[in-house]
Amino acid sequence: MIDIHTHILPSIDDGAKDLTESLALLKLAENDGITHMVATPHIHVGRFNNSISVINDNLANLQQNAKNEGINVKLAAAAEVRLDVELMAMVMANKLPFIGEIAGKNVLLLELPHSHMPQGYDKFIQWLAKQNIRVIIPHPERNRDIQSNLYYIEHLKQLGCDFQLTASSIEGEWGESAQTIALQMLKDGLVNYVASDAHSVKRRPPILSQARKTVAQLLGEEQATTLFVTNPLQLTECLFND
Ligand SMILES: [Fe+2]
Repeated sequence: MIDIHTHILPSIDDGAKDLTESLALLKLAENDGITHMVATPHIHVGRFNNSISVINDNLANLQQNAKNEGINVKLAAAAEVRLDVELMAMVMANKLPFIGEIAGKNVLLLELPHSHMPQGYDKFIQWLAKQNIRVIIPHPERNRDIQSNLYYIEHLKQLGCDFQLTASSIEGEWGESAQTIALQMLKDGLVNYVASDAHSVKRRPPILSQARKTVAQLLGEEQATTLFVTNPLQLTECLFND
């Protein structure tokens, strides 16, 4: 399986607190059947001001340490970018890392606030499309505005967004509303990716196998493979080939 959303890099955001935890997370992932992992630290203006060079240096360091430990998980890096008015200038200055490519377009993992849908989100996504940037919305099922009004999902889809669920939402670990929406989106064919959003060994480990089983029971083995292997590999192939 390919995990496209993880906070595995040490001491760079609210994910792994140090190298020891990063390596422990990688071992958990390997045992769970994860072969490829994309580190997606937060870029959240004013809170986590991570740059491409800091992320890449951190990745190279973790890759070397993982190799020394005999861990066999391929690693690449991008970012989970929080929607913010400052992003336009960052896009124009090529300061945001992309999570991959689909049909000749760069793809951005664009995080919405957890509490609400910010004003102008649609205009911003339309502007990104004009810059040849396609958007993946991570964990839409955990946004409280979306939980109370599923119209937002339809609207985001119309804007050309793809969706990535958090694996543990499917298992009910983010509450009933998130689980209900996650399962409904799966049944409606609205999900493109499932990822762990791993942050820590105890709180949010990089485990995908349980959710994959649930998806296979719900939609069949073929569809589970599409969401956990084929789609994420197609998206991130360019990251792992570098
Ligand atoms: Fe995340």
